[in-house]
Amino acid sequence: MKIKKVGVLGCGLMGSGIAEVAARAGHQTVVREVTEDLLEKGLGRLEKSLGRAVEKGKLEVAQRDEIRGRISGTVELDDLADCDLVVEAIVENLDEKKKTFGNLDRVVKADAIFASNTSSLTITQIAMATSRPDRFLGLHFFNPVPVMKLVEVVRTLVTSDDAFDSAMEWAAGVGKEPIACRDNSGFIVNRLLVPYLLDAIRAYEEGVGSIEDIDKGMKLGCGYPMGPFTLLDFVGLDTTYYIANIMFEEYREKRFAPPPLLKQMVLAGRHGRKSGRGFYDYSG
Ligand code: CAA
Ligand code: NAD
Repeated sequence: MKIKKVGVLGCGLMGSGIAEVAARAGHQTVVREVTEDLLEKGLGRLEKSLGRAVEKGKLEVAQRDEIRGRISGTVELDDLADCDLVVEAIVENLDEKKKTFGNLDRVVKADAIFASNTSSLTITQIAMATSRPDRFLGLHFFNPVPVMKLVEVVRTLVTSDDAFDSAMEWAAGVGKEPIACRDNSGFIVNRLLVPYLLDAIRAYEEGVGSIEDIDKGMKLGCGYPMGPFTLLDFVGLDTTYYIANIMFEEYREKRFAPPPLLKQMVLAGRHGRKSGRGFYDYSG
């Protein structure tokens, strides 16, 4: 199936990036948020990202305006009815994803493909909340979406070849390098990355070093572009906490369990860059 019109659920850190990437590749793109305020905030984030590219001479103003012109925002699921592909990037919560896809299933054309950008939920449990599990898969992007080349394309036992092939082709068409993953919690990258990030918090709790020195150690010692605490703040401590609980539930191994400090920070509203404070203070 040739994917032309793209819908995106959620215009947060990831949804705004996915909408930008789809529009940059020429797709008419409609992005849905739950409130007008959150939609405006998300579209503002997207416009800032496009503006950064113009400032750096990577985009002409006319190109920027053309890309922005392909994106429409809404709070109505009905406005996604004629999409060929809908990519979900809403809060990492199974009930919310199942409820939203269940509602979407009733309004979007039957041959549309549904995809979740979930970090840690298995795709099968979301797909079975719809009448189209054969046209349901994972499209797991990486943060920041406009920059990171990887997309994990996740098929379940019932994903059809047509849906999988269409998704792989679409991912390559929007400029990404797709890899095929099995439907296990965390797919490939998070299965390895999440224990590392949680271990960094445990190491800090054990007193092996300061936040700054642990970050510096992994950047200078291993060539990582961000240390673990900078990356945790970038991903979002709330999202990381949801991911850890989901992966621990799935694998029942300590290495996936959220450290007590992470829970305390999330409950205290320290969600990372997105809230102005995480392991580092961004209020300045
Ligand atoms: N949004 C859009 N573009 C951004 C950006 C953002 N938030 N931050 C940086 N960029 C762009 C810049 O505009 C710049 O673009 P150009 O090359 O076109 O000029 C480019 O990225 C490089 O940015 P900088 O030079 O300002 O900074 P940098 O060299 O430190 O790179 C970075 C920034 C690319 C984010 C780099 O720090 C990095 O790769 N960090 C690691 C990110 C990572 O690990 N992501 C995966 C997280 S895990 C995940 O996503 C999965 C999950 O389920 C949780
Ligand atoms: P976020 O909190 O920045 O954004 C989530 C957005 O979803 C919010 O703006 C919220 O208003 C919106 N939302 C909630 N319910 C909705 C609904 N029913 N309909 C429409 N919008 C709704 O979160 P995020 O970091 O963008 O993560 C979104 C998804 O992407 C999660 O499943 C997460 O695991 C996954 N993910 C996150 C990252 C990351 O680094 N943050 C990377 C890859 C995948």
